[in-house]
Amino acid sequence: MLLTDDAPTATQAVDPAFRRDIIEGLSRSPKATPPIWFYDRHGSELFEAITDLPEYYPTRTETALLEQHGPDFAEAMGEGRAVVEFGAGSSRKTPHLLRAIAPGAYVPIDISGDFLRASSATLAQAFPNLPVIPLEGDFNQPLTLPKAIGAMPRLGFFPGSTIGNMEPDAAVDLLRAMRRVLDDASVADGAMLLIGMDRIKDQDRLIAAYDDAAGVTAAFNLNLITRINRELEGDLPIDGFAHRARWNDAKARVEMHLEAVRPLHFHVAGQAFRMARGETIHTESSHKYGVRDGRLLLRSGGWEPVREWTDADGLFSLILARAG
Ligand code: AVI
Repeated sequence: MLLTDDAPTATQAVDPAFRRDIIEGLSRSPKATPPIWFYDRHGSELFEAITDLPEYYPTRTETALLEQHGPDFAEAMGEGRAVVEFGAGSSRKTPHLLRAIAPGAYVPIDISGDFLRASSATLAQAFPNLPVIPLEGDFNQPLTLPKAIGAMPRLGFFPGSTIGNMEPDAAVDLLRAMRRVLDDASVADGAMLLIGMDRIKDQDRLIAAYDDAAGVTAAFNLNLITRINRELEGDLPIDGFAHRARWNDAKARVEMHLEAVRPLHFHVAGQAFRMARGETIHTESSHKYGVRDGRLLLRSGGWEPVREWTDADGLFSLILARAG
């Protein structure tokens, strides 16, 4: 049952935030751009392809955890919760959770209206008796949950280790924002959050996950150049850049970069830029959390961890926390 609020029609115009972030990011030293801009239509397709790669363990491992621990989830979370998913639900992962805990409603929140509507329609078809209420918006900004969920206790769902793509201080801010959105003093049963976190592991495995043999992650990274050229009147030479994935041990993160393979001179939105050979644009960080680090992060964000599910190899964890 798909219930839609009045959603604004998607605009074809170039997002001014994209122009601003790219110009600012290329003007900085070292150059760095926010990872959200990977996800145009082709970038989203490439990301879907990444999740199927043999080297990319996170999606497969998290999905298996969701499949295996349904009875535990039902016991720990109870029935009738409004499941609020931060980021439009993947049609593959979310159903496992929804089937396990018999929720009262499902509220996917996403900034991309098109993707949100498509994924909500798929979920609503699979769960005809579940009210599905998509909410278009940026969950980093103040949001009000739909009135239709009334006094249902809330469960935030933030899978995929997306929290890892944020700097730790931004991750804490986001966790606090989620708590503000979910925790309603008038609801008797306090809010919960089920979050996916990728673990620190051996470097070779980490690097392979972000630099696969088939070159899909390279194509995902390089697609940012194509998008800049298309949407911001750029003339960046695609063959002037190489995909690089590096483990930054001090910051416990895999970094993706686009490295200039020769001296480059290019334009974006009428502005000129230069890159020396070997200079990079840092396009993404994917932070990995040790067991204690993850708990500390959640506590800093106002959430008290209560249960944790991890695969036998300790690759990936799902953590359940209560609003603290
Ligand atoms: C979306 N996010 C959690 C992915 C990650 O693993 O950091 C994005 C990604 N980048 C390269 N491969 C996957």
